[in-house]
This record gives sequence, structure tokens and C-alpha cells, in this order.
Amino acid sequence: MSIEAASSFQRLNRRELLRTAAALSFTPFLNAGNNDPHRPRYHFLPVQNWMNDPNGLIYWKGQYHLFYQYNPNGAFWGTMHWGHAVSPDMIHWKHLPIALAPTPGGYDKDGVFSGCAVIWNGKPTIVYTATLPETQCLATSEDMITWKKYQGNPVIAGPPPGLKVAAFRDPCVWREGEDWMMAIGSGIEGGGGAVLLYQSKELTHWNYLHPLLLGELANDGPIWECPSFFKLGGKHVLLVSLDKQSKVMWMTGSYKDRKFIPEKRGILDEGGYYYAPQTMLDAAGRRVIFGWLPEGRTKESQKDAGWCGVQAIPRILTLRSDNSLGYAPIEGITKLRGKLATWRNIDVAGETQKILSGVHGDSLEIMVELEPDAAEFGVRLRASPDGAEETLVIVDQPGKRVNIDRRKSSLSETTDRDVKGSLFDDGGKAMRLRVLLDRSVVEVFANDSACVTSRIYPSKADSLGFDLFARGGGVRVKSLSVWEMRSIWS
Ligand code: FRU
Repeated sequence: MSIEAASSFQRLNRRELLRTAAALSFTPFLNAGNNDPHRPRYHFLPVQNWMNDPNGLIYWKGQYHLFYQYNPNGAFWGTMHWGHAVSPDMIHWKHLPIALAPTPGGYDKDGVFSGCAVIWNGKPTIVYTATLPETQCLATSEDMITWKKYQGNPVIAGPPPGLKVAAFRDPCVWREGEDWMMAIGSGIEGGGGAVLLYQSKELTHWNYLHPLLLGELANDGPIWECPSFFKLGGKHVLLVSLDKQSKVMWMTGSYKDRKFIPEKRGILDEGGYYYAPQTMLDAAGRRVIFGWLPEGRTKESQKDAGWCGVQAIPRILTLRSDNSLGYAPIEGITKLRGKLATWRNIDVAGETQKILSGVHGDSLEIMVELEPDAAEFGVRLRASPDGAEETLVIVDQPGKRVNIDRRKSSLSETTDRDVKGSLFDDGGKAMRLRVLLDRSVVEVFANDSACVTSRIYPSKADSLGFDLFARGGGVRVKSLSVWEMRSIWS
């Protein structure tokens, strides 16, 4: 038993857990590589094996439930189940038994794919995709823990007659007046990605209405996965995951006659590691988004690690005045802050800024406020003293761009390396940069108007250095705060 896994179960009654574990034949105390230097400490991931999309997000009886695509057979994609965890604050999680598994020989024998959770006639209800072929199914529960598949499954046995589609999965269900509505991720054969819209009075019988939105093949790719549709501020938002591009497109616009009319669009996180997000309302009625962070290393090294896939820190979504999306990590993250180092008015003149030599670590939160109109400024993370490894977060204020440079993140040949980033909006004000570093995870928030997330795997044990730098002129940093972050499992 590892310390990390064990402590995550401490709040469960141990005997009760073991009994449940035996009944459901899962192994609660096995953990993959507790001493693994790449395994995140304050982002959610299962004890071991593969995880992808967040599923079934729901706030129920004072707790947040996170389900997720899970393969109990190893750190690779396959035999999809629904894993389950619960949290009072969306930061600290308790693992729960697997919620749904494929039924051998049944309609979902090849996998229990992504979907959502709603309360239907007072009962927790999961709406998920069974495969192969892709159909939509229900499961209900009394306590959110033990799930029973609906006897009349599938409730939608296939795509609308006459429509040739390349995918038919990932239901997103919501209430609209007296009706239940369902959006399904799809793609028209020979055409572009699509979201198909259904309506019902009861979750067991559905009428196909029309596409909520059709994409264009050239720009939007052939398949849209994991649609998420919701109201935000005065607009409606549609999120779709672009299968071939591994990117999430957001669109804000209006919803008329049960059709979505996009007015503005963009990419949710340009780092290349944020996919298949799902949203829910939190206890305060705010829209929170969870997203899957895949790995950035070879399949072999993923298997060797014994774990694969991480959930991003949940983000509060807001509608900005220009109808683009705003992002901020949920405030609960500040509970993990430990030792703090702060500076004011630092003049950063060149490639290294030695006054910060006291700060180092692989689990940090960093907040920087710059003077407006500064030259190119950067934060150097996970740097080895010999300079062989480093990861750079670079802010180009005049170009309004923030990049993560991973070209030297690792000497290992098994890891991805590139420079990726996105434009941000500074609203003409001082730039605020927030970085969440958690071993192999780097999440960057630029002025709450852009997020860039990446994965890094430094190979050297001493790649823990932190520093600031400037290029093409000096930069005045108005304030800098660096916290050591605590593990969520202790
Ligand atoms: C997105 C996705 C979904 C599907 C699930 C299967 O990552 O491909 O479309 O339901 O993963 O694991």
C-alpha cells in the first residue's frame, strides 16, 4: 500500500471500504509509483491505470461527484468503465468504487463511453453512450454509488433514420421548461462535425428534432465529441471537442427555435493538452469546467508508469464583455498553498535573475504582475542547475501572446517537445500571470482571458529551479508570489 493511496482513503471507513472493494472486486490500496516524480500531487487522477474524459459531473447533497472514463486493465485506452470520485470542494477527492462497467455480451460490452448525470424524478441518473454500435443508455441509483442499468436500454438505439453519421456519442442532457433536451456529438458522413438535438418528456423516450449546429469539414473537422451546451451570462455557449485536432472549440451565441447561432468562437486552451471537457453548476450557481489532460510521452512510458491521464484544476467560466470566455481556477486551490515567497518591484534585466535562487520545487503556484508594455518576459520552471533542462512560460506583452516552451523540458527521448501558446487580452492593463505547476502538469492563466496547459517530464532529479528572465529589454515585475503547494492526498 502506498502512502498516497492510503491517505486518500483515510476518510472512508476502512472496513466498509474493504467490504465494498471485495464485493465489487477492485483494489483500493494499489497505487502506481508513489515515488514517481511525474505523478501530479494536487491534480485528480485515479490510483492507477488509464483515465480520460470527465463524465457525469454533478453537485448532489453537498458533494461534487466526478465520474471519468477509466480502464481498470492498465494504463492504456480500452474497456471503458466509469470511474468515480467525490469531493466537498472539487480539490480534495475521495476515490469511490467503479460506477459502471461494460456488461459482457450486452449492448455496452465494448465500452461504457462518455455521458452526463442528472436528477430524474428525484433519482441520480446517468445518461451514457454504449458501444459498439453507439447508442444512448440510462443507469439509475439511489445513493450515487451503486448503479443499475435501465432495463429498456438503449433509449436511443441509433442515429436518426436517413442520417449517415460518423459518430453518435457523449450525450449532454439539460432541462428546458417541461422538456428534457439532449445534445449528441456527431459528424455527418462526408461533411463536418455536428451536434444532434433530441427532446423528451421522460428520459426513456426521445424525439429527434434537428442539428443544434452543423460544422464545416474544412475548419471544424469531421467529428465533434463531448458537446457541452449551457447558458452563461446573456449568451449560450457550445463546447465541442475536435476529434482529429485534439482541441476544444468554444462558441458563444444565441439559442433560437432550438438552434444554436454562434457569434464568436475560439479554442479553449491552446496548449494541446486539454480535451473532452464537461461543465456543471457549482453550489453557488457558477459554471465550472473540468477537462482531461492527456500525457505527453510515449505509450510505452505511460504503461511503464502504471497511470495515465489527469484532470485539470476545475476552472470557473465567465462571459467576458467581448463575449469570449474567461477562466479562473476555482478558489479552493488556495487551500493548498504552503510556504510563500513574495517580492515587489523586481527589475529583470536579462536571461537569469539570481535573486530568486532560493525558490525551487516541482509543486508550485506562481503569481506575477507585470508593468504594462514590458518587453518579453518569462518564468523558468523545472530548470536543472547545469541548464540542460528547463521549461519556459513566455509572455510577449506587445504581441499579447503567452507560450509554453518545452523544447528543453526533458532530456528523455520519450517526451513531446514544442512551443505552444495563445493570444491573451490585457484590457490595456498590467499583465497578470498565474502558473500552476504540479510535477508533470503546467497550467498557465493569462489575465483570466487565456489558458495554456502542457505536460512536462524532466529527467533529472535536480530539475527544480525557478527563475525569471527578460529578453529585448528590461522588465519591471510589480509583484511576484510563489507558494509551495501541498498534496491533496495528505
Ligand atoms: C473523447 C472520447 C469520447 C468517448 C470517450 C471514449 O475523448 O473519444 O467521444 O465517449 O472518449 O473513451
